[in-house]
Amino acid sequence: MTDAIRVDRLHFAYPGGVQALDDASLTVRIGERWGLAGANGSGKSTLLHHCAGVYAADPHVTVLGRVASAENLPWIRSQVGLLFQRASDQLFLPTVREDVAFGPLNLGLARSDVERRVETALRQVGLVDRADRAPHQLSGGEQRAAALATILSLEPAVLALDEPTNDLDPAGRRSVIEFLNKWQGTILIASHDLEMLLEVTGQIAILSAGHVALTGASRAVLGDAASMARYRLEVPASLLR
Ligand SMILES: Nc1ncnc2c1ncn2[C@@H]1O[C@H](COP(=O)(O)OP(=O)(O)OP(=O)(O)O)[C@@H](O)[C@H]1O
Ligand SMILES: [Mg+2]
Repeated sequence: MTDAIRVDRLHFAYPGGVQALDDASLTVRIGERWGLAGANGSGKSTLLHHCAGVYAADPHVTVLGRVASAENLPWIRSQVGLLFQRASDQLFLPTVREDVAFGPLNLGLARSDVERRVETALRQVGLVDRADRAPHQLSGGEQRAAALATILSLEPAVLALDEPTNDLDPAGRRSVIEFLNKWQGTILIASHDLEMLLEVTGQIAILSAGHVALTGASRAVLGDAASMARYRLEVPASLLR
């Protein structure tokens, strides 16, 4: 079976020389739900960006069977919905509705299909009544919900979510967890919200200094106190009870 994501010994340095990924490898099969955990600066966001085809072509990354070559990058971006860590990086049009329509319009869909996708995505994140507001006039949590709607409207095969529960109130966080638990596709989530990762994912990869240092079943990895301490993490309280 084709893998959803295959990252094979990826090295990546940002301009200026910071080595953000150092021999990182990860395989995510179609339908799997993975969490990326690790200290600040360990490379989680950088790895997610690579999986979503946002950076330059790289032969060490393969998405849904297609290598991340220059000619495949636009297709990869249409298949992997990337939620940026900062919602403001994702919202740039005058209204929420236009931002949510942007992706489907770029796919060249008919107007009626675009409108249907926009309404569905806004409903999924609970923002129907904010649709005609300017994104910068929304609260932090509302902006994160709007950013999530901009990728749901793409109807992607893979969700690559960078800190999806940041800024959300407990009820908003709960609805994201419930939504993700119902969502059928492949999921990759970078987060420090380890309780959420425990509820939503089946597997965890721990990053350390740009390297995937440890992978395994979520409960086993997050419940391993020695590993958690080694990688600047903590065993989630729900596993201590
Ligand atoms: N645009 C950039 N330019 C240069 N260096 C960067 C850039 N973005 C990230 N880095 C560096 O790359 C490394 C990995 O950063 P990354 O954002 O992937 O970490 P992270 O695990 O997502 O961290 P956090 O938990 O803080 O979100 C860090 O050393 C960081 O300082
Ligand atoms: Mg990050």
